[in-house]
Amino acid sequence: MMIQIPGVLDAQTVQRCRQLMAEADWVDGNATSGAQSALAKRNHQLPEGSPAAREMGRIILDALSASPLFIAAALPLKVFPPLFNRYEGGEGFGTHVDNAIRIQRGSDFRIRSDLSATLFLVDPDEYDGGELTVEDQLGTHTVKLPAGDMVLYPASSLHHVTPVTRGARLASFFWIQSMVRDDGERRTLFELDTTIQSLAAERGQGDPNIIRLTGVYHNLLRRWADV
Ligand code: NI
Repeated sequence: MMIQIPGVLDAQTVQRCRQLMAEADWVDGNATSGAQSALAKRNHQLPEGSPAAREMGRIILDALSASPLFIAAALPLKVFPPLFNRYEGGEGFGTHVDNAIRIQRGSDFRIRSDLSATLFLVDPDEYDGGELTVEDQLGTHTVKLPAGDMVLYPASSLHHVTPVTRGARLASFFWIQSMVRDDGERRTLFELDTTIQSLAAERGQGDPNIIRLTGVYHNLLRRWADV
């Protein structure tokens, strides 16, 4: 399942990130790749742990922790420190899968990648190409979102970024280890949560059936979550 999370960053914060990225030194994107994806990848990245990447990473993690939609959809246990990439001049990233385990360079921090995230930092009309294309059981999905919006998709999926033929595509990308490892279980919880929220908006939180449904949600979460 792909889930779009609009407005993770507001326009002013995107602008701050654009300024930091304009002043930063970029390196060949293959600095962070596994052997298989290095074959397909052509882009540039901010070095992991560079001052700009750290500052923007903190901004993004703060924004995510304040996003009820992100928390409901991802049920995050651990979030990898956000990385940043830039595609221009025909660069793209051919079909690949993301590594199952990500280790933060120079630390003990490691996560299992259950979900992949792309947070767009440039509006779609500023570049041509650069669509994120994800293949899952339901077919092929293509996304290219406004600056500040994010998409979550299963890290297990095959995906690629089409070549950027005009302008530059700037984005943050990272992975999430969810408390609920299984994509189907996580989706079921998200649908139940979303339905409870919309019923509660109609009937009020005190409705006895909403209280019972909320109990079902938490009992399923208790059954499926690892913390
Ligand atoms: Ni990828």
